[in-house]
Amino acid sequence: MAEQAAELLWWQRGVIYQIYPRSFVDSNGDGIGDLRGVLQRIDYLSETLGVDAIWLSPFYPSPMKDFGYDVAEYCDVDPIFGTLADFDELLAAAHARGLRVIIDFVPNHTSDQHPWFKESRSSRDNPKRNWYIWADPKPDGSPPNNWLSLFGGSAWEFDAHTGQYYLHSFLKEQPDLNWRNPEVKAAMFEVLRFWLRRGVDGFRVDVAHFLMKDPELRDNPPSAGGLALYKPMGEYDTQIHLYDKGHPDNHALYREFRAVLDEFEPISPRMAVGEIHIADWQEWASYYGEHNDELHMPFNFALINAPWRADVVREVVENVERVLNRGQQPNYVFGNHDEPRIASRIGERAARACMLLLLTLRGTPTMYYGDEIGMVNGDIPPELAQDPWGKNVPGLGLGRDPERTPMQWDSSPNAGFAPAGVRTWLPVNPDYLTRNVAAQLADPRSMLNLTRALLKLRRESPALHSGGYRTLSGDSHVYAFERSAGAQRFMIAINFTAEPRQVALPSGGTLVISTEMDRADERVGEQLSLRPYEAVIVRA
Ligand code: NOJ
Ligand code: CA
Repeated sequence: MAEQAAELLWWQRGVIYQIYPRSFVDSNGDGIGDLRGVLQRIDYLSETLGVDAIWLSPFYPSPMKDFGYDVAEYCDVDPIFGTLADFDELLAAAHARGLRVIIDFVPNHTSDQHPWFKESRSSRDNPKRNWYIWADPKPDGSPPNNWLSLFGGSAWEFDAHTGQYYLHSFLKEQPDLNWRNPEVKAAMFEVLRFWLRRGVDGFRVDVAHFLMKDPELRDNPPSAGGLALYKPMGEYDTQIHLYDKGHPDNHALYREFRAVLDEFEPISPRMAVGEIHIADWQEWASYYGEHNDELHMPFNFALINAPWRADVVREVVENVERVLNRGQQPNYVFGNHDEPRIASRIGERAARACMLLLLTLRGTPTMYYGDEIGMVNGDIPPELAQDPWGKNVPGLGLGRDPERTPMQWDSSPNAGFAPAGVRTWLPVNPDYLTRNVAAQLADPRSMLNLTRALLKLRRESPALHSGGYRTLSGDSHVYAFERSAGAQRFMIAINFTAEPRQVALPSGGTLVISTEMDRADERVGEQLSLRPYEAVIVRA
């Protein structure tokens, strides 16, 4: 059994809630969510829901080609989202409530409108030329190598003015920075310090393993097919991405990155969680650092597209438990702004069980806004589509608009996201009339009240927020595990199927929470019955 130290830090004990600021609350009626909107709902986050930290997706000045993941200035706020003063106010309000704030750090690329890139492309001998990755065409004029953009087409864009290509792992409006240039590193570490001095508690690092590439720019080998990492991505899957990301030099870089965060540790503990899609467990775990001196955590995406099956989930959890050492904090994610809504993927009843799983596993849970009310994918008509990925690589369902629709607060027009009559940047899902925060607060058995009960129990129970993990049983239908700390012991059992199931527990106990919210205080024996897709927590 994995024993856990009693004294964990906020990001180890706590629950993170991701806010996509465009879609949370629009405070000024332009149809786009903003920082003052988040501020308006701060008590919802800290009190009603009771999460420990929020992660804000990018709010920096940006041409919004990739909705803020194309940053034109790292140390400011886009007027669409507000001002630096708004940010400071939000941060202070969060801290006054004990809520930590994690912001998105986008180091792999800037916007092509960033002053650094404008300089870089202005001439071959500009001092910022080497801040980006420029290379000569092949003799026939074609791109320097076969690397592909994740968002479709070649990863190289020709610049006629200077006669070279620049690298963009994502959109051509998102040129990749050259992290092998010490000046880039120094400038970007100053960006970290700018926000750390302001008081942010942590960073979510965008595509963290992309930073270092093969310095010789070698061609990627072809893939035999079927290697899609987490979802089929079209032409991108025809290569093994050996040279365009994940270079071993990332590790030395993240040790330096960590040292910058550690400068602030005496003031208060800070953290960085990296967006890292790597299927190999050892390689994934290597981003914690050999001496736990790199990223505090790489996001664990193993369950975000995995089939909803007891044996699959159990295997992932056991792999995590096996691969991580004592100082390495596990974490789990079931949804974010890049993935279909969990309730659409596995069904609404299973989504309740999934929330119970997420909030009882050993490790830091990251929730996605709206999942607490079971929001489903929005149905976006093609003429309203926004996401460039979906537009560039059509036909594969890669567009991310469905999971970015406005938060559903109440049944008023525009769901309380924006004032009535305003045209919102993505359409509000019409199910807001019945699926919204206000309605679910009034319904004792709602998904929202289930989530609140789970968060409260987790916060109050050392076994859940800091305790050890042990598998109890797991076939392909039911998965059961135990969480314990000292004398406190919980057994968690989840029925992954549409049929009633039985599971044998090591002891009886008192049922604390069922996903159906109707079995509290029931005495259960060693044979536990579960209804279809039901999950329960039993106190031993
Ligand atoms: C990952 C982010 O989560 C995604 O939304 C973005 O489009 C890419 N990185 C590029 O920054
Ligand atoms: Ca607004």
